[in-house]
Amino acid sequence: MQQHDPALSAASADTARPATRRRLRVRTLAALVVAAAAGYCAWALAYPQHTPRPIGEFVEQLTGANAHPVHLQRPATAPLSAMAQLGKRIYFDQSLSASGRMSCASCHSAEHAYGPANPLPVQFGGPSLTLQGDRPPPSLMYLYRQPNFGIGPDQADADEPVNQAQVAQQVAAAGTTRAQKTAGAAPAAPEMVPQGGLFWDGRVDTLQDQALGPLLNPVEMANTSVDEVTEKFSRSAYRDVFIQLFGPDIFKNPRLALSEAMFAVARFQVEDPSFHPYSSKYDYWLEGRARLTQAELRGLRLFNDPHKANCAGCHLSKPGKDGLPPMFTDYQYESLGVPRNPQLAVNRDANYYDMGLCGPHRTDLATQTQYCGMFLTPTLRNSATRKTFFHNGVYRSLDQVMAFYNLRDIEPGKIYPHDAQGHVEQYDDLPAKYRANIDKTDAPFDRKLGDAPSMTQADIEDIIAFLKTLTDGYRPDDRTQSSQQQ
Ligand code: HEC
Ligand code: HEC
Repeated sequence: MQQHDPALSAASADTARPATRRRLRVRTLAALVVAAAAGYCAWALAYPQHTPRPIGEFVEQLTGANAHPVHLQRPATAPLSAMAQLGKRIYFDQSLSASGRMSCASCHSAEHAYGPANPLPVQFGGPSLTLQGDRPPPSLMYLYRQPNFGIGPDQADADEPVNQAQVAQQVAAAGTTRAQKTAGAAPAAPEMVPQGGLFWDGRVDTLQDQALGPLLNPVEMANTSVDEVTEKFSRSAYRDVFIQLFGPDIFKNPRLALSEAMFAVARFQVEDPSFHPYSSKYDYWLEGRARLTQAELRGLRLFNDPHKANCAGCHLSKPGKDGLPPMFTDYQYESLGVPRNPQLAVNRDANYYDMGLCGPHRTDLATQTQYCGMFLTPTLRNSATRKTFFHNGVYRSLDQVMAFYNLRDIEPGKIYPHDAQGHVEQYDDLPAKYRANIDKTDAPFDRKLGDAPSMTQADIEDIIAFLKTLTDGYRPDDRTQSSQQQ
């Protein structure tokens, strides 16, 4: 170590023999180069905006710090309005269910990224909590940015109510039912494709309309009528708040009472920062306030690589130009051909198929069979905290999800069941006549039987390490934080 010290080498240089002197001079030079490089890296880290791109990337590779930090636009925080506070009480109120033991939080737990708390593929509800649902509850986080359902560009801005089936017919005639998804490539023109909406099939647009569903859904909170729900509000601990906010006659108009209550629940989800904190390690990394490990960095690059995992082709990973944090979904619909889940009670009927956009829960697009099998691309924020994945809850772990993406068409025998003759029942959760809708063009789904997989086991581990950086609640390292503040 001492021999690398430039001062020491200079002092002893005169008395040394020529060969040793040359060696010392080389060492001195090397030490200086290393010191300069380290100094430059530190400077590049502190002032990334002044660093040329290739050098920034070199520093990123070396240190895991983002070479091109951005300022993220987080929503402003303010104390909850009286409306949102009422919504919060309703959200956690178990007395609003027929069982008396179920609230919104039973399926959308605040401690579990507003997703399910247990590892069941789907949840049980109903008057005695014995009836099985048929889709897993999504996380309720970040829904304030969910656009309305529409087919084609900018439907959200349309003034007229749109007949989706009519639009779908026109789009099908023009020959586009889905867009090609390549990570990093901007679409050439806005495609006419289904996008936006709430639920796995986008059948509801607003958080307010949505909240009605579970209260009256027989396999969820299972109230039998609007009157019954309003009756429960009028006996609740917050009945006075209802009267304060909506007037003394509110309980005489059950429909109005319910609609105001659902508006309140929606305000809670929009106003409470716990629904959209943007506090993941990746968010802080984007801002230059955290460093990724080498595994996480490799995972990010594979995630974004259009020829490898291509995850970002659909789960968008880059912040918007306006600094809007990435949502890890393009809000579009895809048919991935996820295997059937034999654990679901509905699937005991061999003729039952959950086909997403074309039914059975959604009914307006039932005749638009080009959409059969398509489900909304979910956000991957906090997905590492989930214990159940995809619209039918068929998978229990990210390892299983990754195996599906990697092997679906290459080794389908590992993904799908076999029939009595030993044939692989590929795409078994969609009737054969609709299987042409399944995505076979976007990487990693562009591979064929026997091709080399797009990801190695090490790649998969790196991508999972990256997915874990999307979990909220990370505390950025104080050291990197203070070097940012200089
Ligand atoms: C028994 C479990 C259960 C309960 C209780 C429940 N939900 Fe859900 N929730 C679900 C399921 C399952 C879905 C997905 C349904 C689908 O896609 O068809 C869902 C979807 C949602 C969505 C749409 C999410 C998205 O990403 O599109 C919102 C919002 C929502 N629920 C809010 C609520 C509110 C508010 C309450 C209380 C009034 C509530 N839920 C009670 C199970 C439940
Ligand atoms: C062609 C678009 C597309 C690509 C590419 C894609 N996904 Fe998805 N992803 C989806 C859709 C659509 C779903 C929901 C499908 C369903 O439930 O039927 C989904 C679901 C998921 C889920 C489950 C989330 C949940 O809440 O249940 C995870 C995890 C996931 N994707 C990760 C990835 C990873 C990792 C990659 C890259 C290897 C990737 N996705 C590539 C469209 C895509």
